[in-house]
Amino acid sequence: VTLAAGALSVGVASTAMANDAAIAYRKAVFSALGGHTSALAAIVKGEVPHSSDAKAHAKAIGMTAPMVKHIFPEGSGKGDTGALPAIWEKPEAFAKVQENFQVAAAQLAAAADGDDMKAMAAAVGNLGKACKACHDDFRKK
Ligand code: HEC
Repeated sequence: VTLAAGALSVGVASTAMANDAAIAYRKAVFSALGGHTSALAAIVKGEVPHSSDAKAHAKAIGMTAPMVKHIFPEGSGKGDTGALPAIWEKPEAFAKVQENFQVAAAQLAAAADGDDMKAMAAAVGNLGKACKACHDDFRKK
C-alpha cells in the first residue's frame, strides 16, 4: 500500500514537473527568438554597425521558428505561464497565426541567403507582425 501511494505521488509530482519544464523550455525558446529578432531589428534599422551578424540572426530565427509548433503541449497552459487558454480552446485560430509566423520566418531565412539587407529589413517587419498577431490573441497582456 505504501509503495502504491508513493508511486502515485511520484506520478502526480512528475506530471507537474513535466509541465513546469515544458513552460520553462517554451519561455527559453521565445527568449531566444526575441533576442535574435531584437538584435536583427537594430541592425536593419542601422542602429548598430553589425551587418555582418545579420545572416546568423536570420538563420537562427529560421531554425528556431519551427520549434514553436511543439512547445505548447496539452496541460502546459497551467502554471507560471503567459500562455492563454485560447491556444488549446481555439486550435484552428492558433494554427493559423502559427502558420503565418512560419511563413514569415522562412521568408526571412530566404532573404538572408541573398545577403539582401533591404529584403531582410522587410522580412523582419513582417515577422514582427506575425509575432504580434499571436501575442495579441494568445498571450496574457
Ligand atoms: C504562435 C504564437 C506565438 C508566436 C508566433 C510568437 N509568440 Fe512569443 N509568446 C507566445 C506565448 C503564448 C508566450 C507566453 C509563453 C509562456 O509564458 O509560457 C510568448 C512569450 C514570448 C516572450 C517572453 C518569453 C519569457 O521568457 O517569458 C518573448 C520574448 C516572445 N514571446 C517573443 C516572440 C517573438 C520575438 C516572436 C516572433 C519572432 C514570437 N514571440 C512569436 C506566443 C507566440
